Amino acid sequence: MSPKSPMIPMIHGPAHDPSGKLVAGRSAYLILHNTSEVATPDALGREVLRFPKGAVVFRDGRVAEVGPAEDLFRHHPAARPLNANGRLVTPGLVDCHTHMIFGGHRAEELQRKLAGESYADIARKGGGIRSTVRATSELRDDALERSLANRLERWRANGCTTVEVKSGYGLTAARELRLLELMAGAALRVPARVQRTALVLHALPEEYDGRRDEYVREVGEELLAQVRDRGLAAAVDVFCDPVGFTVEECRGVLLRARELGFAIRLHAEQTARAGGAELAAELSARSADHLECASERDWSALARAEVVGVLLPAAALTLRQKLPEAAMLRAAGARVAIATDFNPGTAPAQSLMECAVIAGRLCGFTASELLLAVTWNAARALGVESEVGHLSPGAWGDAVQWECESLEELPYWMPAVRPDTVFVRGADLALPAVERRLWP
Ligand code: NIG
Ligand code: FE
Repeated sequence: MSPKSPMIPMIHGPAHDPSGKLVAGRSAYLILHNTSEVATPDALGREVLRFPKGAVVFRDGRVAEVGPAEDLFRHHPAARPLNANGRLVTPGLVDCHTHMIFGGHRAEELQRKLAGESYADIARKGGGIRSTVRATSELRDDALERSLANRLERWRANGCTTVEVKSGYGLTAARELRLLELMAGAALRVPARVQRTALVLHALPEEYDGRRDEYVREVGEELLAQVRDRGLAAAVDVFCDPVGFTVEECRGVLLRARELGFAIRLHAEQTARAGGAELAAELSARSADHLECASERDWSALARAEVVGVLLPAAALTLRQKLPEAAMLRAAGARVAIATDFNPGTAPAQSLMECAVIAGRLCGFTASELLLAVTWNAARALGVESEVGHLSPGAWGDAVQWECESLEELPYWMPAVRPDTVFVRGADLALPAVERRLWP
């Protein structure tokens, strides 16, 4: 369950032979130079460091050094130069909250929501999560795995080199385990880091109508142990909400998850303020996500407990909710990440940078705060901040060369700036065409 476990697939690229072993030679030792600037969080995520016309040295898949180009050329005379063409370079982005493995879509539901029907009403009438559970179980394994692999490729083309994927559209133990297994298969097909999360209390499956307590008990007593024994996820997540599960139900399952060695995360305070943020602080969760209805006191409690607060602007837009003010978050001392929440119900959002651009405008974040929110802070929500989310020596050589020249341009352009080169483990692999239709 450590970040170095097989959940990070071996990347086959210029730096590796087909068996995954590192190939000795110049291709594994590069100096990326002639940038407009390199902007990266420091190793501890305290601030964004900016190196005008800086350079990055990648060696054997990792960052060897970042800093002024003249220094790096002197320190690394044997590194192969690669010209960044006067562009901005940042760490690869980290999308720390997605529900990427699902079938179908719910475009008609968006129309109903915009016409005034609530998310809870739609769910009660058999729409919502349950309808995606049906569409997902109708897809064959190979189709579902391929669709996830395609999505991961689209994320990489949009600059995300680490992506969290939650299960949650299975609900019953057998179907949840299937989704987690398929994620592992998809992760092996693509050069991205995939962090798997078991979202175990998402909605009550139809099969358990009238047997809610039994369902919650089985999740805690059986499903979690199976996920652990089969090494299928690093973290466990729950939907703590009047539309999902109560604080008491979530507490029981999360305590068990913690005992089993999982990191824990919560969907909290999404459709109403229900106590999920306090529970996250109480249990030292990795993150509390959504928080549209959280109070200032909730944010302070999260900050004191060092729980990352994850904002999901696409879901807030879809449900026409407000996002918190950056000034309040700063005063609370919160560590904030931003994620897509990619899912067919509340967030059909396929670009993390686009989500950051929106949050920047709506909340009032600075460009540096936004970069932290989609790199170091997001890595922290996944427990992989020693490995990714920054370009400090020793971190993985995951980086993006953007089609712009300054950090301030990232939250400026709409639609969002695109990468022109994405490095994974220090290798600039070809990017897929992103215009292809990806829905299965
Ligand atoms: O993060 N809130 C719970 N889960 C998802 C939505 C799931 C769905 O509507 O399919 C979310 O918003
Ligand atoms: Fe979510």
